[in-house]
Amino acid sequence: MSTATASPATPASIARAFLPDRWHYHYARSKLASDPLYGGVLEALDGAAMPVLDLGCGIGLLAHYARAHGRPLDYVGVDNDAGKIAQAVAAAERTGLAAARFEVVDLARTFPEAHRGSVVVLDVLQFLPHEAQGRLLAHCAAGLAPGGRLVLRTGLRDGSWRAGMTRAADMASHLIRWMRSAPGELPRREELAARLEALGLRARFAPLWGRTPFNNWLVVAERA
Ligand SMILES: C[S@@+](CC[C@H](N)C(=O)[O-])C[C@H]1O[C@@H](n2cnc3c(N)ncnc32)[C@H](O)[C@@H]1O
Repeated sequence: MSTATASPATPASIARAFLPDRWHYHYARSKLASDPLYGGVLEALDGAAMPVLDLGCGIGLLAHYARAHGRPLDYVGVDNDAGKIAQAVAAAERTGLAAARFEVVDLARTFPEAHRGSVVVLDVLQFLPHEAQGRLLAHCAAGLAPGGRLVLRTGLRDGSWRAGMTRAADMASHLIRWMRSAPGELPRREELAARLEALGLRARFAPLWGRTPFNNWLVVAERA
């Protein structure tokens, strides 16, 4: 009988999907080592990992993390940065992530209408203007299948030092061109909760900042 066991998923083993691009490899590795985001999202999707639409997916790290942790997703990722989508497509092809599809979409203007399932929006809302945030949330709610969940992570504007750090980092990432969109507005918790409630969704909020200095909250919403 073979005693071989699958090697455990580590930040380095997951990040290897992005080699030979060393910049994205190091980005993915340090993100996975410092930020509990993707583990928190998988937990939030527990029982609702039907087709998942990842809005503002960047290089598609969530899909790699999920598969590496034995939870492969039926996954579509969209982002307005064609360079990141090209990296995402290349990494998915290199690693045989066959169930992942990627598309260039500017969420400030349009939305992938056909989706029915769960929707995730991770650290993206704050890069949209106020009205576009409202439109995006309405589209997300419309795309939820019965039992589907909307999983958001967003910085919140609450006057804390963490909120200041979040805003400063969002500005800096735009200035260095890592983020094409300029930061819009950090939502306030009460306003975001009210918007979700008006869409017929019941939401719970929990801090999810790990070893980062940011005011990042996980918001899990489902039909009331
Ligand atoms: C902080 S990154 C988060 C990436 C990914 N969600 C993750 O958590 O790994 C924010 C992402 O939002 C994308 N983004 C910003 N504005 C956007 C827009 N108007 N339409 C689509 N994507 C956008 C950026 O290109 C970037 O990939």
